[in-house]
Amino acid sequence: MMNEKETVKKEPLILAIESSCDDTSAAVLRGDLLLSNVISSQEVHAAYGGVVPELASRAHQQNIVPTVSEALRRAGITPRDLDAIAFTRGPGLLGSLVVGTSFAKGLAVGLGIPLIDVNHLHGHVLSHFIRRQKEEEVPDFPFICLLVSGGNSQIILVRSASDMEILGQTIDDAAGEAFDKCAKVMGLPYPGGPHIDRLAAEGNAEAFKFAKPHIPGLDYSFSGLKTSFLYTLRDELERDPEFIVKRKADLAASLQKTIIDILLSKLKIALDQHPEVKQIAIGGGVSANSGFRRAVEEFASHRGLRAWIPERIFTTDNAAMVGVAGLFRYRDKQFCDISLPPYSRVEI
Ligand code: KG4
Repeated sequence: MMNEKETVKKEPLILAIESSCDDTSAAVLRGDLLLSNVISSQEVHAAYGGVVPELASRAHQQNIVPTVSEALRRAGITPRDLDAIAFTRGPGLLGSLVVGTSFAKGLAVGLGIPLIDVNHLHGHVLSHFIRRQKEEEVPDFPFICLLVSGGNSQIILVRSASDMEILGQTIDDAAGEAFDKCAKVMGLPYPGGPHIDRLAAEGNAEAFKFAKPHIPGLDYSFSGLKTSFLYTLRDELERDPEFIVKRKADLAASLQKTIIDILLSKLKIALDQHPEVKQIAIGGGVSANSGFRRAVEEFASHRGLRAWIPERIFTTDNAAMVGVAGLFRYRDKQFCDISLPPYSRVEI
């Protein structure tokens, strides 16, 4: 007979570390139950209109110890309680990844516990498995995930936590880049996505028509939209120098609708090709977009599918998703050797 302590012990206590870009994050999970998730964002990049890799890695160095300490404190545990350490091994900025990777390795060796390397993209896809309460529902496999961020726009068939297939992806810009680059030409601060989202709520989404790509299959393209948006602004500004100021809400709403239409058009084809799939999910920074979240809910309900929309805190880079992805690997005993280096590029 197991005593109570052993029964509780069955679910591993995992510390997760994420440092792939410009957020330093640490989380503690007991199994899939989230005990803490601390995110230290780096404000320093806003002045440069984008993430500066060298500044990002320096800020990770400053943030990593207080962020991990705070995650442990909020979870009410000490390092000695931990069963494993999961960390983002890639993809991302190498200088940023090195900080989280080295810290995770040092701590795991010091504590004598296993180390689990996690693909950041798996983290986004599996973020739907984070539970805040024991009874919370999670997706069933298979599902199709639209992973949309500043660096990715992918349609992924998720057969299991370790079996994911990219059905389609962008051949040029990612959806987040389209938001950010168009926002920039409107004079909005970086990153522009959230500003477009806010403005779009006040605008008419049918006011302007921008070019949509004609790419066969399930791949995306967003560079033509960016050019079409730029030309519209250039032509209209010649007629009226106040054009952007007067029409910014309509521009934002029309841009947002075009991006959502493009994203959903390919998702529809993917689902037609995979009738066995009854659940869809979204993930990545762009999945914070209000219009996109609404459109995915409506799309799913129209087709009789279940939609998984992440909490906004799990759309951005966070260690909770790294922890839950790490849990799946822990269960499969997929531990990593401390000699493994981080990687800046990798497929899902
Ligand atoms: O996943 P993420 O935090 O970072 C990486 O790209 O790795 O995604 C950031 C992207 C940016 O392009 C940002 O503008 C976009 O997500 N984003 C949004 C919103 N919030 C973040 N785009 C549209 N609407 C939003 N509410």
